Amino acid sequence: MSDTVQQIKDRLSIVDVVSQYVKLERAGASLRARCPFHAERTPSFHVSPDRGTYHCFGCNVGGDIFSFIETIEGLDFKGALKILAERAGVELVYERGGKEKKDERERLFELLEAATIFYTSKLNDAAKKYLKERGLTDATIQAFRLGLAGDTWSEASEHLRAKKFTDKEILDAGLAKKNERGSLTDKFRNRIVFPIADTAGRVVGFSGRIFGENASPDAPKYLNSPETPLFHKSRILYGFDKAKMAVRKLNCAVLVEGQMDLLASHQAGWANTLAVSGTAFTPEHSALIKRMTDNIVLALDADEAGIKAAGRAARTALQGGLNVKVTRLPAGLDPADLIQKEGADEWKKAIRDSKDIITFLLDVLEEHMPQKDKFRRAVETIVLPFLSDVRSPIAREQYVHEIARRLTVSEVAVSEALEKLPRHPEAPREGESTSSAPPVKSEVKISPRAARAFDRARQAFAILLWQQSLGKPSIDVAGYARDLEAAVGPEAFAALSTLPEREREALRFSAENLHGKSPTPERETKVLLSVILKELLAAELDDATMALKKAENAGDEEEITRLMGVCNLLTTRIGQLHEKV
Ligand code: UTP
Ligand code: MN
Repeated sequence: MSDTVQQIKDRLSIVDVVSQYVKLERAGASLRARCPFHAERTPSFHVSPDRGTYHCFGCNVGGDIFSFIETIEGLDFKGALKILAERAGVELVYERGGKEKKDERERLFELLEAATIFYTSKLNDAAKKYLKERGLTDATIQAFRLGLAGDTWSEASEHLRAKKFTDKEILDAGLAKKNERGSLTDKFRNRIVFPIADTAGRVVGFSGRIFGENASPDAPKYLNSPETPLFHKSRILYGFDKAKMAVRKLNCAVLVEGQMDLLASHQAGWANTLAVSGTAFTPEHSALIKRMTDNIVLALDADEAGIKAAGRAARTALQGGLNVKVTRLPAGLDPADLIQKEGADEWKKAIRDSKDIITFLLDVLEEHMPQKDKFRRAVETIVLPFLSDVRSPIAREQYVHEIARRLTVSEVAVSEALEKLPRHPEAPREGESTSSAPPVKSEVKISPRAARAFDRARQAFAILLWQQSLGKPSIDVAGYARDLEAAVGPEAFAALSTLPEREREALRFSAENLHGKSPTPERETKVLLSVILKELLAAELDDATMALKKAENAGDEEEITRLMGVCNLLTTRIGQLHEKV
């Protein structure tokens, strides 16, 4: 596998990969762009073609082509590997038996793509008229590849057969059922179809909304693909592939309930909208979102079922470590209705006015229960379970405060009631040690002067790291490293040498930005290194001189001799630094 990774890295440069997502501009030795992972006006996202890495000084992300694709596409390593292997034209070698599996899946992807093209080609004027009446534009219809399954029994299946897909494949993809006579009947008939894609944008299933005069009156309004090797509704969010960039940029996901709500919301400018599709919001959904952001706004229907669903979704999201806000929509209106009837501004207002889940619940309950007693009991039974799902101890404490204030009881009483609740087993609270997590290391206290010295040493170290990463360093890196170790002391030097790679890369970029553009980088870095080393040595000399005075006052001859030796050595080193530049 590592071979494959190297092959891919040899063929794809970081610039090739990153520039598919952002516009890179040259800035000295590195390239920069506005960061795709957070919203910013001035570019702080740097790419180094030489090292094959990126780093953002704004949001402190960084890594290589693999981590870039993982983060931006919301994939795990295997997923990123797959995408990059494809782009690099490197074949992934699977273990024995895996190959046929892969081919089967590839066939299903191809089949679903062919079906999508088929359905879109069937979208007729009547269906287009209907979609327009519901407020959708041509651009939205095309971007989301809406199509039509017509009033026929097996048109889609026959089309796929003509494309040389087998009956088994058509059945496996969930697009047909076998009837009593053993022939295929299309699953989607008399429906507008909404292709549902995986995180990488490949169609894995469909949702179909009833449409057309000949639709059966008993048929459900929406029909989803059944579970297939590719389609797992508990793991797929409608619109995720299109929304992921915006979710990351806006650092927030808006969750709605249906296809139409999602399309209307995207069209109204909320590209960070996702939808569950015919299923409850699951922990897997929550984890998917958590890869892109910590924040979710729930905008589920305001009817009773919708509020219950919102409550369950909120608990799942809280348990998944998300911060949860809830919109309050006018009764009887779902987001699509709201946008169409009252305009995009009202939708914007609903999102902007969304309240965090605890406040939302308190507000709703207080409105419905003017009697303090009833309200208090309701808070205990309804709100506290939500609070026990909140993972951040700081947020939890704020809520305890808020609840105590509203109920006019003490915070201690609220905390006690909270402690009595059973806790969700998968929601360990932050800061609590679990068996698998190592205990948090206590911070070492250091003096301000030592901290300053360490900071300077870090600057010097950054230059060395950067120079070392160049094919031909222009300074004697190893020599300066020895000087630095001598000047800052072995412990501090060890601390620098063992910094995690992410931080080392950040240091390389910062040194490169500062000195890489200089017409005389060699001279500049040498001067700076000397200045820093001199400062560090001078501080040591100060200390030694002070200690020497004390020893002289005390008449401690042995110590005097030792410290004079130290002072001489430091003075010599400082002198040597002058010569070096
Ligand atoms: P709704 O019944 O609220 O539909 O179901 P809607 O989105 O407002 O539909 P329109 O506006 O009449 O077109 C919300 C979602 O629940 C799922 C679908 O994903 C739908 O978008 N659903 C609904 C089903 O899976 N099956 C159904 O029979 C109904
Ligand atoms: Mn609706």
